Amino acid sequence: MSQTPMFEIENLHVSIEDKEILKGINLVVNPGEIHALMGPNGSGKSTLAYVIAGHPSYEVTEGSIRYFGEDILELSPDERAQKGLFLAFQYPTVIPGVSMANFLRMAVKNVRDARAEEIVANGGTAEPFTPREFRKLMREKMSMLKMDDSFATRYLNEGFSGGEKKRAEILQMALLEPRLAVLDETDSGLDIDALKTVSEGVNELMNPEMGILLITHYQRLLNHIKPQYVHIVMDGRIVRQGGPELAHELEAKGYENIRAELAAAS
Ligand SMILES: Nc1ncnc2c1ncn2[C@@H]1O[C@H](COP(=O)(O)OP(=O)(O)OP(=O)(O)O)[C@@H](O)[C@H]1O
Ligand SMILES: [Mg+2]
Repeated sequence: MSQTPMFEIENLHVSIEDKEILKGINLVVNPGEIHALMGPNGSGKSTLAYVIAGHPSYEVTEGSIRYFGEDILELSPDERAQKGLFLAFQYPTVIPGVSMANFLRMAVKNVRDARAEEIVANGGTAEPFTPREFRKLMREKMSMLKMDDSFATRYLNEGFSGGEKKRAEILQMALLEPRLAVLDETDSGLDIDALKTVSEGVNELMNPEMGILLITHYQRLLNHIKPQYVHIVMDGRIVRQGGPELAHELEAKGYENIRAELAAAS
């Protein structure tokens, strides 16, 4: 018997408004692994990310998603986050009157409190998470991501530039310390320096206990965040899997090649 994978998607079929978008996705992510998910526009990458996070609009018609052996499809997005799943972009675009710091403190507290409860339920002891601790943690992570202090007092995403939103996502991830992070096009809209800073941040956060699913269009990001595995999604299925060389091949030849091969094989 092989060990239970950390995260396992099996034969996942997903529909939206009776249109089937995902048509049997299989994917395993274990601790210490970075997986890149690439594929043409509309192939279903973001759909997969939303389903992992528990977005209510998507209907899973077949298959399963298991996290440490537990089926997570019945769990709310909150419960998934508490268990250590993270999807960049879990918050609404703008929440008037809620500062970045307050939003993040609530998000982190939610996850920390749930973890503390679990520790206590198992007979251990856990200290409450104090505002003071949060401020210290936030300062630490913001300096790691080279973010200006004023960021913390700004209202959530109000007037944030594209690059600032992406950094805010990574800051949220840094604070939540997830076991599985799904990053959907974290590179889009970043200037060259910001791409480097955000990538360095992700690399610094990566650890042997953690897995990352990185959705991207460009091999460029993969020069900074290096995946061991690359998967290509087309029309709701993973049609190619390989190592980093697959991303290079894609960059050089585009998707036409794969489409032609698939057509020839069918
Ligand atoms: N809420 C929705 N209502 C109707 N169709 C949807 C909805 N959400 C997604 N789709 C459709 O599902 C398909 C997959 O979309 P998805 O966003 O997952 O693609 P993607 O691979 O992330 O593409 P991109 O690279 O452009 O981000 C598309 O055809 C899209 O139009
Ligand atoms: Mg997308």
